Amino acid sequence: MSANDTIDPGRRDFLYVATGMAGVVGAGAVAWPFIDQMRPDASTLAASSIEVDVSSLTPGMSLTVKWRGKPVFIRNRTPEEIKAAQDVQLAELKDPVARNANLASDAAATDVDRSAGKDKENWIVMVGVCTHLGCVPLGQQGDFGGWFCPCHGSHYDTAGRIRKGPAPENLPVPTFAFISDTTIRIG
Ligand code: FES
Repeated sequence: MSANDTIDPGRRDFLYVATGMAGVVGAGAVAWPFIDQMRPDASTLAASSIEVDVSSLTPGMSLTVKWRGKPVFIRNRTPEEIKAAQDVQLAELKDPVARNANLASDAAATDVDRSAGKDKENWIVMVGVCTHLGCVPLGQQGDFGGWFCPCHGSHYDTAGRIRKGPAPENLPVPTFAFISDTTIRIG
């Protein structure tokens, strides 16, 4: 992350904007217009990755980053939140599919497969767009202590799985990886 803006210090989440990355890609597109036209995927891919320093996020803290024009929630979950998600039976889920771009499309929506994995299950990374009609859910609210979309009342649990309300699917997990102990690359 090369720049960040704090929208409201009173909120739990902070919005970081990857303006530096966009600037670099923009300069490249001007210098190489023909190559850019011939290989639109290259510039799209370059713009689509961001790296986020999560070293300041202690358990129970979240931040929201902007990626491909959308909010992405990153949360360092508490042990209680992880346990609450682990205790849910798959049969209770409205959407039993993980919706995790890092896994096979038919992976089940277990807590470990919705999170950063076995050794980093405390970390969850999700596109913060309600799967009903696209509002941005609020963190640590709703009947399941996860995310709540106030637009039409969709409740997501602490693993971002839809549990109640009109949203049809779990919040999607984007392609991401830890590239160091404290840095996540998204995209
Ligand atoms: S957009 Fe979230 S519940 Fe309708």
